[in-house]
Amino acid sequence: MELKLRLGIIDNDIVNWISAHPEILLNSLPQEEIAPPQVFNPKYTTEFGSLYQADCIPLMKTIPSDSIDMIFADPPFNIGKNYKSGVSDKLSEDDYLNWTESWLKECIRILAPGGSLFVYNLPHWQTHIAGMLNKYLTFRHWIAVYMRGLIPVAGKLHPSHYGLLYYTKGERPRVFNKQRIPMSTCRHCGGEIHDYGGKKRGLNENGLSIADVWTDIHPVRHKKFKNRDSNELPIKMLYRIISLASNEGDLVFDPFGGSGTTYTVAEHLRRRWIGCEIGDINPIVSRIQNNEDLSLLHKVEQESNVLFTQEQVTLRRTNDFWLLEDFT
Ligand SMILES: C[S@@+](CC[C@H](N)C(=O)[O-])C[C@H]1O[C@@H](n2cnc3c(N)ncnc32)[C@H](O)[C@@H]1O
Repeated sequence: MELKLRLGIIDNDIVNWISAHPEILLNSLPQEEIAPPQVFNPKYTTEFGSLYQADCIPLMKTIPSDSIDMIFADPPFNIGKNYKSGVSDKLSEDDYLNWTESWLKECIRILAPGGSLFVYNLPHWQTHIAGMLNKYLTFRHWIAVYMRGLIPVAGKLHPSHYGLLYYTKGERPRVFNKQRIPMSTCRHCGGEIHDYGGKKRGLNENGLSIADVWTDIHPVRHKKFKNRDSNELPIKMLYRIISLASNEGDLVFDPFGGSGTTYTVAEHLRRRWIGCEIGDINPIVSRIQNNEDLSLLHKVEQESNVLFTQEQVTLRRTNDFWLLEDFT
């Protein structure tokens, strides 16, 4: 045991041994002074949300335990990106994982029983994050969000997804609104890509059940809003996650605001929200104030939970492919 401890090997034997003899550690813990929590005031508020310009860890320390219904976190991936906020995105592996554990612990504490936590990151980090979360929360899914155009790495398989971990506090989520997506059809003729054969009649008019591989989330490429963070996630992704795991009036928290995708979707979906970004929050404020995402949000709305989008219906009608109404 001593040798393992000295070598920094924390396996299950060590964990069980420490749990059986906690006094060994407790007696040697430094007596830290407990600093009073910092006070934070929101820099911007809306009908549903409050936005803070702060480091998310001390901010979370001011949030009561078990109070947040859904958390989505898209932290820096530690790949050496240049964040305008100046945060280091090139920590040592140990420092990154220690920092990750610090903010995850706060997320776990503030998440309400039955609440859901989503963490978006590279598969490599997700293997560690899952290990941390498995101790406290219930695993639901590792969702693979398909990404085209990721940089190949010599000697490895070509990376083509980011991981989206989905956990709940307690055995079951309080909210699970099953989301459905349109059938995949040919862009040119509208014909179905997979053969549904005799099952066509049994298809749900609200679309196909969503799986744990998402191939329909495309990176944001617009240059229209140049002041926004280049890490902006697609509206469609947050729309799906927030719709899946929360109801109107629920409280949603995202510790890493970036350009504010989570908040703009939460506001639209009438979820209460708490936002936090360590860097410039002006792009988030103007995005929400000017309703910059409204037309995109409407498009996503129209194309969610339907078997065919309006565009697909038109194309299929033109080319004489079946539509659900043919079976009724
Ligand atoms: C990957 S981006 C999030 C992008 C966001 N999901 C979006 O769609 O725009 C991560 C953000 O976290 C911010 N950040 C990094 N460390 C932080 C911390 N300790 N507290 C709050 N924000 C932090 C960075 O400035 C960056 O804007």
